Amino acid sequence: MLQLPDHLTEKQKQVYRKRWLGTVSLIVQTVSAIFFAVVGLFLFALFQPSLVGWFGHPEPVALESVQQRMAEKESDLDRVENGIHLETGLIAAEGWEVVRGTCTACHSAKLVTQNKATRDGWKNMIVWMQETQGLWDLGDQEKTILDYLAAHYAPEEASRRANLDIDAIEWYILDL
Ligand code: HEC
Repeated sequence: MLQLPDHLTEKQKQVYRKRWLGTVSLIVQTVSAIFFAVVGLFLFALFQPSLVGWFGHPEPVALESVQQRMAEKESDLDRVENGIHLETGLIAAEGWEVVRGTCTACHSAKLVTQNKATRDGWKNMIVWMQETQGLWDLGDQEKTILDYLAAHYAPEEASRRANLDIDAIEWYILDL
């Protein structure tokens, strides 16, 4: 504890002790504040991996793994399942890539896939876009595009459901 000279009065000693205690507690508070700040920072860094870079060099990323990820991304964009190009919804038949390249430049491929028209109808839409929407002259590609659209986005002959094929139905007895 604090050693005080004997010539001091009891009152003076009390004042000194009080100040001494005040200083000690200030030091304790400061040290504990620094301690908790450091612990807090450590925990934060532990759960926030991006901050680990502050304390050490992050693992270098292998070039191959980046290339592989890029290749996967690219093949995702080109993926075709059950004859449908997943990214655009276009039917992946002859000429579809020309249609993707040309007809998704200004709007979603949905405008194409949700429409149905005869060859003339498609031609009219293209002309309309050329006259009013800034669509360019399609040149040689127009034939490929029209062939594709007329073949795969033609009006359906019948809008009514086809007749049921009675012989093909597996009849069963309702269990009531
Ligand atoms: C230069 C830009 C541009 C290009 C390229 C383009 N279009 Fe369009 N198209 C438009 C605009 C603008 C509209 C109107 C969009 C709207 O109404 O929201 C439109 C609308 C359409 C529509 C809807 C028409 C309607 O009457 O509802 C269809 C279908 C369509 N485009 C098909 C195509 C096809 C097929 C191609 C490829 C040959 C194509 N577009 C290329 C600009 C373009």
